[in-house]
Amino acid sequence: MSSPEEQAFRLLTEYSNGFMVSQVLFAACELGVFDLLAEAPEPLGAAAVAARLGTSSHGTELLLDTCVSLKLLQVETKTGKALYQNTELSSTYLVRASPKCQGNMLRYLARTTYLCWGHLTQAVRDGRNQYLEAFGVPSDQLFSAIYRSEDERLQFMRGLQDVWSVSGRPVLGAFDLSPFPLICDVGGDFFKDPLPEADLYILARVLHDWTDERCSRLLARIHGACKPGGGVLVIESLLAADGRGPLTAQLYSLNMLVQTEGRERTPAQYRALLAAAGFRHVQCRRTGGLYDAILATR
Ligand SMILES: C[S@@+](CC[C@H](N)C(=O)[O-])C[C@H]1O[C@@H](n2cnc3c(N)ncnc32)[C@H](O)[C@@H]1O
Repeated sequence: MSSPEEQAFRLLTEYSNGFMVSQVLFAACELGVFDLLAEAPEPLGAAAVAARLGTSSHGTELLLDTCVSLKLLQVETKTGKALYQNTELSSTYLVRASPKCQGNMLRYLARTTYLCWGHLTQAVRDGRNQYLEAFGVPSDQLFSAIYRSEDERLQFMRGLQDVWSVSGRPVLGAFDLSPFPLICDVGGDFFKDPLPEADLYILARVLHDWTDERCSRLLARIHGACKPGGGVLVIESLLAADGRGPLTAQLYSLNMLVQTEGRERTPAQYRALLAAAGFRHVQCRRTGGLYDAILATR
């Protein structure tokens, strides 16, 4: 049994090494470790993996064995030789051919989000995103919105799709949407473009990008387009009533700080925004998954 002090130190070490774990995952994906092992007819040794990926034998062996400790790979030893193969987790979420592959989101996190998080201290000091500090480009001179290039924008959109392929269904099942035959998933330049006619407008992973003032403007536009009985379905990660959890939503909120002008919000904060825009009935449902749902009707 370890003492409380030792346990605290273990926890601290886990936190401080957390970025190394992310980088092992990002590197193994970027090098194509999981795809190679999925396509190989049998488990492979480290030398074979290194030869096929064109990587160093020392680095590859370290990476593969660390992936085993992280349950991203499994290893068996046959006649003294270690042979690696994918685990259930990597076969489902890290192999390109899997319908639930998260590879695009992981690439975006590795190449963009991670770099912004390197400036979290400054973001907390300034209370604003760190695009200038992370990439040397002022926000208003980026290719578009928060993207440095069209490639980066597409990478992010594919990443969102990856996450949706796993987390979308529970959210869409949170409410009975059958009273809304015509549904519009709001995207594009929704601050300017006319909104198409619909019974229900979906705002998925949109409001968390924006300040309260911009959210109010967008919700007022949607309320204006809504027929009586029509509504809006907001899909976001809800914070607890006091804002102090769940951890994933808190981390996403900090992510909004380093990358956007928005934040994650509590049910009461969404209720206030929706009520101010004129919506009357507001219901919040937690799904237990990454995203929650808020349905408001006019
Ligand atoms: C985070 S994406 C969410 C997309 C989609 N609803 C989903 O859940 O996958 C944000 C959406 O806001 C739209 N948008 C409009 N103006 C934007 C801006 N200035 N910056 C970023 N996104 C903007 C984008 O076109 C995109 O559809």
